[in-house]
Amino acid sequence: MLLLTDALIAPINRGNAVEYSWIATIAVADGQIAFVGNPDDIPATFAEASRHSLAGRLVTPGLIDCHTHLVYAGSRAREFELRQQGATYETIMRAGGGIFSTVAATRAASAEELLAGALKRIDRLIAEGVTTVEIKSGYGLDRDTELRMLRVARDIEQHRAIRVSTTFLGAHAFPKEIGADAYLEETCLPTLKKAAAEGLVDAVDGFCENVGFSATQMARVFDVARELGLPVKLHAEQLSDQGGAALAARYGALSADHLEYVGDDGIAAMAASDMVAVLLPGAFYMLKETQLPPVEKLRAAGVPMALATDGNPGSAPMSSILLAMNMGAVLFGLTPEECLRGVTEHAAQALGLSDRGTIAVGMRADLAIWDVTDPAELSYRIGDAPLYQRVFEGRLC
Ligand code: NIG
Ligand code: FE
Repeated sequence: MLLLTDALIAPINRGNAVEYSWIATIAVADGQIAFVGNPDDIPATFAEASRHSLAGRLVTPGLIDCHTHLVYAGSRAREFELRQQGATYETIMRAGGGIFSTVAATRAASAEELLAGALKRIDRLIAEGVTTVEIKSGYGLDRDTELRMLRVARDIEQHRAIRVSTTFLGAHAFPKEIGADAYLEETCLPTLKKAAAEGLVDAVDGFCENVGFSATQMARVFDVARELGLPVKLHAEQLSDQGGAALAARYGALSADHLEYVGDDGIAAMAASDMVAVLLPGAFYMLKETQLPPVEKLRAAGVPMALATDGNPGSAPMSSILLAMNMGAVLFGLTPEECLRGVTEHAAQALGLSDRGTIAVGMRADLAIWDVTDPAELSYRIGDAPLYQRVFEGRLC
């Protein structure tokens, strides 16, 4: 049992941080939040609990990075140079680079090597208050490597105090010599079934794009996910409008991600089916996109917006959730409050996790304690992580 006293709680669904903040005590037992309230009302069962004063520091839910590809090998710095000389993401991929160059490096890497690389990136997220991270496969495109990536992702929990949510992204790209349909039937879908049988998959994703899979092909993947009882999500409308968001909505998807090119139909479909829009400003920035996601329309339609790093070696070589918040604010026009909800409450929803993302009785005791008093500080700063400490499953760490 643990009592966190003098915690500054700034409910994030309010207009003015200072006016509505309050100093509270948070009581934690069995890894869950057991009480949030005034010190006078602490339940008697906590009389003997160890106390830790936060001296008025801001407490938020532990941050959630709900879209990453952080298990991989190799680097794409050379491609960055090519892009700086005028090549585009799509031309590099069509020429066999891009995702395929990471596939080659990842296939050649052992589980130990993949884990070591992933832990470096995980440590950066932890240093910024992240307590849950989603990790996708998708750099194997063959059975063994896809399974290896997912096992490494799961294994991270044995090495660090963080929860990992795994996503099967076998439909990320297809070997050109095989073709999309044959790849799906012969490799991707059998691998998905095997991975699901091993308990390695929490959700199923795909890259619905002119350089990826068509909406019809993604429907095939989603049918199998449905048979397996797995929720789906989709890389949709990143580079062009393929009707991906609407397709995902028809399958009750948790989220559609990227969405720069989503149209009104896609937004309406997402709103009607309670989906989260996961915005990925790091990829937008890195690819020097000019088409902004339609934030104002998503807001007006009541679609919850999440923010994530998209951490991957190609379009978003970043491991900073706070920078994703800053970019969400500056590049996409989200308010600081929307940015914070985007990496807590809405990120949890994008992963289908209802036991985290807010500070309330019964939720997991995953918290981030900050050396600041205004939640806007978290999206305001650039390259600065004012984390004091995390609480993971009720333990300060
Ligand atoms: O989310 N768009 C597809 N997937 C990643 C990029 C992967 C890569 O370039 O390696 C993304 O941006
Ligand atoms: Fe991605």
